[in-house]
Amino acid sequence: MERQKILTCIEAARLAPSAENIQPWRFVVIDDPHVKEEFRKAAFSGIYSPSRFAAKAPVIVVILGKKDLLANVIGRQIQGTAWYLIDIGIAGEHIVLQAQELGLSTCWIGWFHAKKVRTFLHIPATYKAIALIAMGYSAERPLSLQKRKPIEKIFSFNRFGRGEKERVGTIHKKSSDLDCLPQKSIQA
Ligand SMILES: Cc1cc2nc3c(=O)[nH]c(=O)nc-3n(C[C@H](O)[C@H](O)[C@H](O)COP(=O)(O)O)c2cc1C
Repeated sequence: MERQKILTCIEAARLAPSAENIQPWRFVVIDDPHVKEEFRKAAFSGIYSPSRFAAKAPVIVVILGKKDLLANVIGRQIQGTAWYLIDIGIAGEHIVLQAQELGLSTCWIGWFHAKKVRTFLHIPATYKAIALIAMGYSAERPLSLQKRKPIEKIFSFNRFGRGEKERVGTIHKKSSDLDCLPQKSIQA
């Protein structure tokens, strides 16, 4: 795959927002087939073998998160939220969206042997490999996403968990509120 396209994706990730703008990410791009083969053996061994398919992609982006930054410590200890994981998710999704724009296909991979990846890539103790993004050209353009929960099951206005019927009836008088959504929204 053209390195220019990969770099465009990394640039999109570079521009992602992050808590306190700490930008806790690092990206290791594996595009050498020999390195990728060795990486595959390390990352997808044993119980992680179901993820082996990802190594068929020409490129694997390893997303690392820096754990020891002050904002992470504060977020985790006071609020109980690992902000850096949110940051990593946003940056990774920037990669995914940019790749899509460039005609590439991607797959997030969270199921991999993080310890072996650490050793293989010489990742320092202050970083953790959080996720992988396999990237390439799909044999056929996948036109449909997997099913998703219907919208009324995942959101509510003004308080947690009111049913869609009550919400539409009492707060938003128009029952046509949801009509603006694509009719073919994919539902589970
Ligand atoms: C953080 C994260 C981790 C994921 N890890 C894996 C994985 O290890 N193996 C896999 O096959 N898919 C993985 N996926 C892909 C999801 O299974 C997939 O996005 C989901 O089933 C929805 O399918 P769609 O993206 O094709 O619509 C992961 C996705 C995310 C966001």
